[in-house]
Amino acid sequence: MKQKQNSFSLKYDTEWEYAPAPESTAHIELKPKYDLFIGGKFLAPKSKKYFKTINPANEKVLAEVAEAGTEDVNDAVSAARKAFPKWSSMPAKERGKYLFRIARLIQERAREFSVIESMDGGKPIRESRDIDIPLAAAHFFYYAGWADKLEYAFPNRKVEPLGVAAQIIPWNFPLLMAAWKIAPALACGNCVVLKPAETTPLTALKLAELIQESGLPVGVVNIITGDGKTGAALVEHPDVDKIAFTGSTEVGKLIQKSIAGTNKKATLELGGKGANIIFEDAPIDQAVEGIINGIFFNQGHVCCAGSRLFVQESIKTVVEQKLKARLETLIVGDPLDKNTDIGAINSKQQLETIKNYLKIGKEEGLESFQVKSSIPKKGFFCQPTLFFDVAQSSRLVQEEIFGPVLTIQTFRTVDEVIEKANNTPYGLSAGVWTDKGSKAFNLSSRLKAGVVWANTFNKFDPTSPFGGYKESGFGREGGLHGLEAYLK
Ligand code: NAI
Ligand code: MG
Repeated sequence: MKQKQNSFSLKYDTEWEYAPAPESTAHIELKPKYDLFIGGKFLAPKSKKYFKTINPANEKVLAEVAEAGTEDVNDAVSAARKAFPKWSSMPAKERGKYLFRIARLIQERAREFSVIESMDGGKPIRESRDIDIPLAAAHFFYYAGWADKLEYAFPNRKVEPLGVAAQIIPWNFPLLMAAWKIAPALACGNCVVLKPAETTPLTALKLAELIQESGLPVGVVNIITGDGKTGAALVEHPDVDKIAFTGSTEVGKLIQKSIAGTNKKATLELGGKGANIIFEDAPIDQAVEGIINGIFFNQGHVCCAGSRLFVQESIKTVVEQKLKARLETLIVGDPLDKNTDIGAINSKQQLETIKNYLKIGKEEGLESFQVKSSIPKKGFFCQPTLFFDVAQSSRLVQEEIFGPVLTIQTFRTVDEVIEKANNTPYGLSAGVWTDKGSKAFNLSSRLKAGVVWANTFNKFDPTSPFGGYKESGFGREGGLHGLEAYLK
């Protein structure tokens, strides 16, 4: 074995060959065709339409999925409305028991859910197995615990659920986003209609099966599939009391417009362009790992990704060298292989969006870096990419790319980096790497971001609220704050 070393004596082993370590798919159960989950039953869509969901790593069809039309949306909302009086007046302790049961069932089936999540959406199995699915179960456990303690969560207030919640989720964390939405809504006594994203509906449909098995009263959770049209019909439905949306800022704005002047409450969790700030006193090796995790986790399909790197000028060379060396070690490929670091881009459309940004970078004359090794020919894959010395005005710095693309900028002083980091339409997340606690606290209060991580990045926990400022949306999910959004 040869070991590559550069002037900073990096000891990344790039010459090791990894034997394939594919996760088995033999144990998963997928039906060829999925109907709509309405009122506790799987019903064929009145629209009579179905669409296909594919595996983005090999472009093979996984299943056909119903496309809910307006009539189907009406049926789902009616089913939720019908279930509401009984569910909301049930003793809270009983409601909690159902949530605990759903949490345990997710844990029992974690392996199957992880594999299906990776097949339908392209994320590495290591991430769905270690992060997405356990965190989804954790959210149900966490909110199950709150169900009968709401008067302690909100002392001196009479807590009342809102009614029917329409919940629309994206494709980057399909089951986890379903859990973020369903668990707090149910804990507070609401009924829901959930619409997963069109490229990743399968784990939500598996969740529907699991909910059926849990014995949850019929109609409390309804899961309908379809694209933006289905989502829009759900948002516009007059008998919906609350909209919970996670997705693009563009659609978030459409939703805002469509509910203006109605009584509907909303939480919108939209895009981001997180700053990851590395000071010269930071533990550099940990920071490099944090930068890699911040932007390449889930192929960069993360609203809170650390997509803008700010490095203090004095350590620019060393950080850039180490980043390049670390990129050489990342394995891009089969999402189901346990060695894979970067899986498939979620869809052809998203790959085109990312490629277009790579082109813009070239047109702007930016210096970039990609590893030379090849990526799979079939499926949607993208090499992780670094862009150096990017101007604050660059489109690559200003716009959300939602892919494995990092822009690198430098700064000299604290004030300068705060000004640059805040100079964005978004305000969802940021990271600060420094040895000095006072610096971390100073920045965490002055950065306009819903979450600021210190000496870590992309850490999630059900007890911790999450949400944005400015065009990243409003409202908080997770923690106590997440309950508030589902109460009058
Ligand atoms: P999108 O916002 O269109 O999709 C998210 C969800 O909204 C999906 O379930 C979709 O069916 C639904 N939807 C679409 N149009 C709707 C409408 N008019 N009314 C109600 N629901 C509607 O996101 P898309 O097009 O898949 O991705 C585009 C960009 O959005 C990405 O490149 C990324 O920058 C950003 N994005 C951000 C996410 C986040 O976590 N904040 C998640 C997904 C995308
Ligand atoms: Mg798919």
